[in-house]
Amino acid sequence: MATSTHPIVSCTNINSFSTNSSSPRNFSRPPSQIFLNPNPSRAARRGDAVKIRCAASSEGRDENPDSLSKAKLDRRNVLLGLGGLYGAYNLGAGGSNPFALADPVPLPDVANCGPATISFSSCKVPYRCCPPITDTTKVEYYKIPSFSKLNVRPAAHAVDAAYLEKYKTAIKLMKELPPSDPRSFDNQAKVHCAYCNGAYLLNGNPYQIHFNWFFFPFHRWYLYFFERIMQSMINDPTFTLPYWNWDNPPGMTFPGIFDDENQLSPLYDQYRNQDHRYGHVLDLAYSGDDIIAPDPTKVKNNLAIMYRQMITNAPCPLLFFGKPLRADNTQSSGMGTIENIPHNSVHRWVGDPRSANHEDMGNFYSAANDPVFYSLHSNVDRMWTIWKTLGGKRTDIADKDWLDTEFLFFDETKTAVKVKVRDCLDNEKLGYTFQDMPIPWKDFKPTRKRTVKLSITESVPASTDVLPAPLSKNLTFYVTRSTSVPETQEEMLNLDLVYDDTKFIRFDVFLNEDEDVNTVELDRTEYAGSFGNLPHVHEGGSATPKTTTFNLAISELIKDLDLEGDDKVLVTLVPKVGGSFVTVNNAYINTLDC
Ligand code: C2O
Repeated sequence: MATSTHPIVSCTNINSFSTNSSSPRNFSRPPSQIFLNPNPSRAARRGDAVKIRCAASSEGRDENPDSLSKAKLDRRNVLLGLGGLYGAYNLGAGGSNPFALADPVPLPDVANCGPATISFSSCKVPYRCCPPITDTTKVEYYKIPSFSKLNVRPAAHAVDAAYLEKYKTAIKLMKELPPSDPRSFDNQAKVHCAYCNGAYLLNGNPYQIHFNWFFFPFHRWYLYFFERIMQSMINDPTFTLPYWNWDNPPGMTFPGIFDDENQLSPLYDQYRNQDHRYGHVLDLAYSGDDIIAPDPTKVKNNLAIMYRQMITNAPCPLLFFGKPLRADNTQSSGMGTIENIPHNSVHRWVGDPRSANHEDMGNFYSAANDPVFYSLHSNVDRMWTIWKTLGGKRTDIADKDWLDTEFLFFDETKTAVKVKVRDCLDNEKLGYTFQDMPIPWKDFKPTRKRTVKLSITESVPASTDVLPAPLSKNLTFYVTRSTSVPETQEEMLNLDLVYDDTKFIRFDVFLNEDEDVNTVELDRTEYAGSFGNLPHVHEGGSATPKTTTFNLAISELIKDLDLEGDDKVLVTLVPKVGGSFVTVNNAYINTLDC
């Protein structure tokens, strides 16, 4: 067994959690021995596969030193691990034009697929994530098979025993497929690894389908083929992936079907946070530290967060989907609202803090090794469908570079196929829909906690008097705004930040509040949104301060707080986790035409 030489071993010593002595809080338990002494089952699951695959792949790699050196090219802003910039948009004047000329992203360069890297570290993923083909010129477009009836994806908390048995059987059979079979559970997880951890190159730099506008369509196609493989395993073309209904109170815990006291279920994964197993209410904005609040408050906060991420903060396509990535791979990345919170937060909430890189769910290369991954994403997928029903400018992106981008997958007949973004925009055309569940956040428009406007007296400082400042305590200041914002424009609050991205950080933003703000309750008009950073491990282990502009759409708040006629707005920033690792350089309000 590959015990002492397990490649993850070398990653523990540059891991920020295990060497972090300057941190004011003990964010995580000591790193476990899991990766130092992998137990037989893990070694059997991954190590053996590693041996088989690496033998073939490292030969290929040696023959092509060029691909290796390419893979070492500039990885800035690309291998971000999970989390990072909250919608790092340049929305204001001087921002890059998101519709600049470039091209759709072609099929990944499989011939030059190289080793994958674990987040920002210099550690390589200990097995090869590349698919078993290299010549993509012969790959045909996938034709969506005809169907007579829509399949219905159920909510994970509401399935019955017969469904659960089928689900377990399908996953078990996928796990038993040989390593040479692209439909195997392991190989399906590697699809995610290859697209997310720099195995593919795009224009000479690592190709990453997170942190940009491909987040939703890539994962929709990915789940589509995964689901078809499950169906073929159990000869049931009506079988579907459950969705983890985390936006609805009955679904706001770890779904019970994935847990198993005896740890024997094919849906069980031991590399999970043991404090967050079935029964604990989750925090949709989790940033590495459990927020202390009673369960009903947590639930209300989650609903408020959903309302903000789906409605208030996502009135425009690019705010929801994320920033463009085009074939030239030159623009800086930026997540959409849902990708950041709750998607990233839920990954980290499930991932095991005892693992060096929060494997499985807490790191892209390993996330899809946990069966719950596909359920998390089934609900992310559902959010896309729901978002388009919410009105306003909430429609799919019309840009051809997005629509004509192609991905490579394997279907249930082991055939490599290519697909376009434009063919997955409507889930019903793909043959599935979602079980109806209440969408309580839709009507959870937060209400005002303060009935009166706080007056901005002379003692209240302007943002320019207070900033730059570290967020080691609550900060209150006023920001000026124009009182004549056209109806068609979104008013945006922007915070220029410099932060240490190796640290857990979360802060919340409130309007018309001062230092006395109740920071525990988020179901209030005054709550504008949250910034979250989940730590990255850096190449070589050194931390570089990261800059970003955190943008929040505040038109609705301005209206509901009755501030439309005011040329000054009171802003309070409340650090929840790791505030001393972030400096707010500047705060300003501008408008966005989406
Ligand atoms: Cu591709 Cu939830 O990550």
